[in-house]
Amino acid sequence: MARPALLQRRVSLLSLSLLCLVPLVQSNGNGLAQTPPMGWMAWERFRCDTDCKDDLENCISEKLFMDMADRLSEDGWRELGYEYVIIDDCWMSRIRDKNGTLQPDPDRFPSGIKRLADYVHNRGLKLGIYADMGRWTCMGFPGTTLDKIELDAQTFASWGVDYLKFDGCNSNALEQLLGYPLMSKALNATGRPMVYSCSWPVYIGSLPPEVNYTLLGDICHLWRNYYDIQDSWDSVQFIMDWFFNNQDYIQPAAGPGKWNDPDMLIIGNFGLSLEQSRTQMALWSIMASPLIMSNDLRSLDNAARAILQNKAAISINQDPLGIQGRRLFKEKTKIEVYWRPLVDAASALVFLSRRSDMPYHYHTSLEKLGFGKGNYEVYDVFEGSKPKPLNSTEQFTVSINPSGVVMWYLKPVKTEFFIYISLVSLIKFPSFKKHLLHFQLFFVCALS
Ligand SMILES: *[C@@H]1O[C@H](CO)[C@@H](O)[C@H](O)[C@H]1NC(C)=O
Ligand SMILES: *[C@@H]1O[C@H](CO)[C@@H](O)[C@H](O)[C@H]1NC(C)=O
Ligand SMILES: *[C@@H]1O[C@H](CO)[C@@H](O)[C@H](O)[C@H]1NC(C)=O
Ligand SMILES: *[C@@H]1O[C@H](CO)[C@@H](O)[C@H](O)[C@H]1NC(C)=O
Repeated sequence: MARPALLQRRVSLLSLSLLCLVPLVQSNGNGLAQTPPMGWMAWERFRCDTDCKDDLENCISEKLFMDMADRLSEDGWRELGYEYVIIDDCWMSRIRDKNGTLQPDPDRFPSGIKRLADYVHNRGLKLGIYADMGRWTCMGFPGTTLDKIELDAQTFASWGVDYLKFDGCNSNALEQLLGYPLMSKALNATGRPMVYSCSWPVYIGSLPPEVNYTLLGDICHLWRNYYDIQDSWDSVQFIMDWFFNNQDYIQPAAGPGKWNDPDMLIIGNFGLSLEQSRTQMALWSIMASPLIMSNDLRSLDNAARAILQNKAAISINQDPLGIQGRRLFKEKTKIEVYWRPLVDAASALVFLSRRSDMPYHYHTSLEKLGFGKGNYEVYDVFEGSKPKPLNSTEQFTVSINPSGVVMWYLKPVKTEFFIYISLVSLIKFPSFKKHLLHFQLFFVCALS
């Protein structure tokens, strides 16, 4: 995936002027993904397993997606917001049909995608599918070259697809620069509202100036900024560290209808301990990340289920203001503190331990963390305790397990709005308009 940076820049500059010729349509003007999308995706857990003879339960086939739709609708997931069932790579036939249309593998998807979409819709869920801006998909199935973009968008719409993940293997920077906006326009032109997930930034270096996050926010509902997640704690740390180390670039890009995507939740698989699973859920909620699981919902253990179905964590993730949170600081003691502002002057705090010895007793006060003077009500997200009062000047201690978190939801009891606003304005707002909205919101709260 690494590309020579110099060549990359030359291509982007050259093609910037070409881009101006492509009329843009804001595909995310369709009102979808006002909060981060939630659901299930095949890739991290089931990869490109096409061996249905020896591994019928786990191969990429219509049965796998029907099984997961059953679980999402019967085991309480759908009611919590997990609504998208998303097909990843390897669903296609090796060849397009006589008309050049993408078709599913006839042995693994004998009923066709339209029937699968009906099955998913009948369970109150939505169907996502995968395509690749390029000559072939990452796993070598037919890709979507520039000349096929409109046809493929029409095909997905005619099947009743609700979400497209558009990968970027096997194309160059110029093709991507043209192709990602074109697909946005083509999806919009179908008349069928679809969520559009762009893998573009991964392929062009993840950061400005190569990546224009304003443009991404205009054309995509979410985008994969960085590398694929793998089933390990190392991978989770690698990804979350990149996202928080680069928060100044990416945090302002997020908001309703436009989300950074640090990739799937791997909770319930093999690589994470209980503590690490809570850490992924906590930080993905702080980051306003899509909550897209890739696990086996048919055999999930109760501990993983409880974390993924934690209502407080989900409501923090789905907060309607849609402001992505930030890392406040890293202590020399390897304790890190994360914060996200929420609706009604509430906020979420996460204390993370990067230690490997024993539970660490971290002493602090809300005042030291930048909170305004006053009384707060604190709810422990994973302990599920009754809300406890906490004065901003009061010293408190949290006990944080190695590679684990303590996650709090806090609400001011007697809100001191002006001090709170100063804390909120630590976060760089993408636009003044949004800033104004917040002021209005707080005054409404103040008057009530
Ligand atoms: C197409 O884009 C326009 C402008 O953003 C929007 O109002 C409309 O809902 C979009 N339609 C679809 C089907 O996405
Ligand atoms: C190709 O297109 C023609 C005309 O639209 C249609 O009648 C035919 O069924 C299509 N063939 C396939 C394999 O879909
Ligand atoms: C980024 O994209 C936006 C929206 O298309 C555009 O207005 C802006 O000029 C671009 N910025 C750069 C640095 O190219
Ligand atoms: C918080 O506690 C301190 C010391 O215990 C006290 O002086 C102060 O009045 C309290 N503040 C509020 C807002 O209750």
